[in-house]
Amino acid sequence: MTQRLFPSYQSKRVLITGGIGFIGSNLARRLADCGAQITLVDSLIPQYGGNFFNIEDLRDRVTVNVCDVRDRYAMSYLVQDQDYLFNLAGQTSHIDSMTDPYADLEINATAQLSILEACKTANQGIKLVFASTRQIYGRPDYLPVDERHPVRPVDVNGINKLAGEWYHLLYNNVYGIRACALRLTNTYGPGMRVKDARQTFLGIWVRQLLEGKPIKVFGTGEQLRDFNYVDDAVDALLMAGENAAADGKIYNLGSAEIVSLKNLAETLVRMGDGSRYELVPFPPDRKAIDIGDYYSDFSLISRELGWTPKTTLVEGLRLTVEYYRENHDYYWDTTT
Ligand SMILES: NC(=O)c1ccc[n+]([C@@H]2O[C@H](COP(=O)([O-])OP(=O)(O)OC[C@H]3O[C@@H](n4cnc5c(N)ncnc54)[C@H](O)[C@@H]3O)[C@@H](O)[C@H]2O)c1
Repeated sequence: MTQRLFPSYQSKRVLITGGIGFIGSNLARRLADCGAQITLVDSLIPQYGGNFFNIEDLRDRVTVNVCDVRDRYAMSYLVQDQDYLFNLAGQTSHIDSMTDPYADLEINATAQLSILEACKTANQGIKLVFASTRQIYGRPDYLPVDERHPVRPVDVNGINKLAGEWYHLLYNNVYGIRACALRLTNTYGPGMRVKDARQTFLGIWVRQLLEGKPIKVFGTGEQLRDFNYVDDAVDALLMAGENAAADGKIYNLGSAEIVSLKNLAETLVRMGDGSRYELVPFPPDRKAIDIGDYYSDFSLISRELGWTPKTTLVEGLRLTVEYYRENHDYYWDTTT
């Protein structure tokens, strides 16, 4: 598939936090093709999505700095002289945010504040794009969910991501440090964490499919969702980065293809050899923070930045399954 290149990033200095993770590494690959000078910051904490194999093909085109965004001194140094900061480092597991709320707070909120303070002190000319999440809306009052929908997070992660997002807007509004936030919906594709369900349930489904195990769908499977293939999410991040109209804004990402989890599982099953799915009761800890049906209204970003997702769900899933069929050795240990 041809990917759109963005000439405005040519020779620009770009920092990506969470750059060895799923979305960060895909963004880095595209920025490298655009001719940017890229530095990736990632802590590579094993429970999170960082994986060196994600940047295997990029090793001579990026600078890697293995460090933690909670390290204020390191971040103060790293933001200097950068033109753009794509701020993607995050603790992404909703369940982990409930069992270890302080780690989530430190990474998704406190560290975000210190990154912005570092920019205020050392680089007020930088442009930041923050990867926020649709999780902050909680259980929708209406569908599709637009940016005016009330925010009512159902878990600690949602509250901390909301704080992280609003620190960015505050620094834009008060200090003029250009920043915006994209509220990503379920994003999937090559490089996502498939070892377990920490990043997305779709990850563990792909693993179950390729291991010939039944895909486990929680509840009735009737829950509705929208999904973005990672290349489309990367397009949105780059459009938001280069476009002044995005400064101080929040945009939903989303898809016009809305599917039930059962339909999604059926589509995946057709891509496996003799695989199947089964409905299993919701584990109580997951049920307590489930958001029910969700899909986004992404008309604001379409209107203002011209973004629409291009990859169909079937095509995106096909590319994803193909990738893990070839590369599973790098994403899960078959003894686990
Ligand atoms: N994938 C999705 O469906 C989705 C949906 C909504 C929002 N998001 C957001 O997008 C961003 C990227 O998510 P992703 O799906 O690529 O997940 P990911 O886990 O693959 O990427 C996050 C990266 O951040 C790194 N990281 C975590 N804590 C860190 C720290 N303290 N210091 C430095 N690096 C650290 C991890 O090692 C990982 O590589 C996250 O902020 C996430 O909240 C993702």
